[in-house]
Amino acid sequence: MDNELIHLGIIMDGNGRWAKAKGLPRTAGHLEGLKALKKVIRGAIEEDIKYLTVYCFSTENWKRPQEEVKYLMALFTNKIYGEIRTFNDLGVCVRLLGSRNGLPEKALEALDRTVEETKNNDKITLQLAINYGGYDEITRSVNSLIRDGYKEVTAELIRSRFDNPDIPAVDFIIRSAGEQRLSNFLLFDSGYSEFGFYDRLWPDWDEEMIHTVKQDYLKRTRKFGGLV
Ligand code: FPP
Repeated sequence: MDNELIHLGIIMDGNGRWAKAKGLPRTAGHLEGLKALKKVIRGAIEEDIKYLTVYCFSTENWKRPQEEVKYLMALFTNKIYGEIRTFNDLGVCVRLLGSRNGLPEKALEALDRTVEETKNNDKITLQLAINYGGYDEITRSVNSLIRDGYKEVTAELIRSRFDNPDIPAVDFIIRSAGEQRLSNFLLFDSGYSEFGFYDRLWPDWDEEMIHTVKQDYLKRTRKFGGLV
């Protein structure tokens, strides 16, 4: 079936606005965003989605106030590892996408352990995009090819040096909180993906939203530049 939703990518936007509307610090929005993510993972499993890539921290997010960056790094260090039991109960295999450069050693350790301890789960693969940027992904790949002596590249060669080349290209990229832009997310693999934009702020997302997203996707016709 052409339009099977195998890989869903999510730009989880609106944590700050959610918190502000409630008179809370922005960081409270990120914590609530993690809770929403857990519901969304359940929804994705119910919909038989095999790969879920979520944009947790971009290569540009370092520009945010130091306190917010610190809080997010603490979430990646403590909270993700703290969810290992949930991941194993649900059958979630965690993978990392993004540059390790600049991430705190403690966060890397906790994330690596999470990957290691969930590697045999096969219900869904959760790709955490942390310190990820599309420009960085392509640049790192091309530089590694140059280091290996390549004078000319192909699209396939570039993709083969990405962090997880075994993960199929994203089918549907969705963004919460109303804004309609890609923000450097999955630049290369989004070449022929579908896009969906939803007004609901990320912390308010749940399983039901993923059922809606799946139905929206099934209405699309994928042509990949050809004719149907
Ligand atoms: C964008 O909302 C959200 C982020 C930059 C962070 C996303 C992180 C999470 C949802 C937490 C996930 C946590 C783990 C441990 C995987 P924003 O802050 O830009 O919101 P705004 O546009 O309303 O200000």
